[in-house]
Amino acid sequence: MRKKILVTGALGQIGTELVMKLHDVYGTDHVIATDIRNSENEVVQSGPFEILDVTDGKRMMELAKKYQVNTIVHLAALLSAKAESNPLLAWNLNMGGLVNALETARELNCQLFTPSSIGAFGPTTPKNKTPQITIQRPTTMYGVNKVSGELLCDYYYEKFGVDTRGVRFPGLISYAAEPGGGTTDYAVDIYYSAIERGSYTSYIQKGTYMDMMYMPDALNAIVALMEADPAKLKHRNAFNITAMSFEPEEIAAEIRKHIPTFTISYNVDPVRQAIADSWPNSLDATAAQEEWGFKAEYDLEKMTVDMLGKLRAKLLAG
Ligand code: SER
Repeated sequence: MRKKILVTGALGQIGTELVMKLHDVYGTDHVIATDIRNSENEVVQSGPFEILDVTDGKRMMELAKKYQVNTIVHLAALLSAKAESNPLLAWNLNMGGLVNALETARELNCQLFTPSSIGAFGPTTPKNKTPQITIQRPTTMYGVNKVSGELLCDYYYEKFGVDTRGVRFPGLISYAAEPGGGTTDYAVDIYYSAIERGSYTSYIQKGTYMDMMYMPDALNAIVALMEADPAKLKHRNAFNITAMSFEPEEIAAEIRKHIPTFTISYNVDPVRQAIADSWPNSLDATAAQEEWGFKAEYDLEKMTVDMLGKLRAKLLAG
C-alpha cells in the first residue's frame, strides 16, 4: 500500500529535509507535515501542513484520521543539551509525544518510525564498535528518554503488533536547517563559522570522538528502513547506524584543505563535554547493514566538500 505519512517536528533539522524527500518518494499530497510553529518555509508552502503540539494526543489522532494516514514519522523532540537544562519539560515532551504517536499508530494501524540516538548509550557502554545489543545506562535525560522510547516501541510491536522501526542516529550534519540544543551541533556550527569568520571556537574538547552522519545518508536510511521487508528485521528499535567518527581537530583539518587559514580554538562547555564523554566513540552498524542494507555514502572528506559548497551558496543568497 502506498504510504500516507504524518510527520511531526517537520520544521526541525531532520524534518525540513525529510518532508521534501518524502514528497519526491511518495507524492506531495501523501505527506502531512506538522509542527508546533508555523514559518515561512518550503515545507509549509509546498504541501499539506498543520499545526500540532505532539503532547496533544487528541489533535494528533484527529489529524491522522482527517488525512487517513497509514504511517507516522515522529521527529518532534528536545535534544540533549536543551533537555539537560529542562529535564522535566524534556520528559513530558519526548515521552508524552512518543506515547501519543504510539497510541495513534495502534488505533489506526499505522507504521511508526521514530529516531533514537547515540545518546541512548552511557559511560558504561563499550565505547568503540559499540554493539547493537549492549549496556544502555545513559546519564542524561535525553538518553533516558531515548532508551525508554526504544523499549516502548518494542513493547508496542510485541504486544499490539504496531510496526515500529527506528535508528540510533549519530550527530547529523546539514545545511538546510540548523540543529538546536544538541551536543553534536558543534560539527554543524564549525562549517558556518569557517565560512563567515575563518575560525571557530569549539565547546567540545579536542580528542572527543563522536559518530556523525551527513543528512542525505540519514534521509536515505529512514526511507530504507521504512521500506524494509519486515521478515528480515530481527531488531527494530533501534538500529545502530553511523557514517564517520571524528574529533574536532580532524574536522578542522578537513576544512583547512579548503580554507587554508582556518583556525580552531577551544572554550569547553562542561555540560556538553560531559554529555559527549558519556557517549560512544563509534558504533557498530552491522545489524542495519545485514537486515535492511544500510549504507552511507558520505565520509568526512566528501561531506566537507558538499557542505562548504552548499553552505556558501546559501549564505551568499541569504
Ligand atoms: N545530535 C543529538 C544531540 O546532540 C544526538 O542525538 O543531542
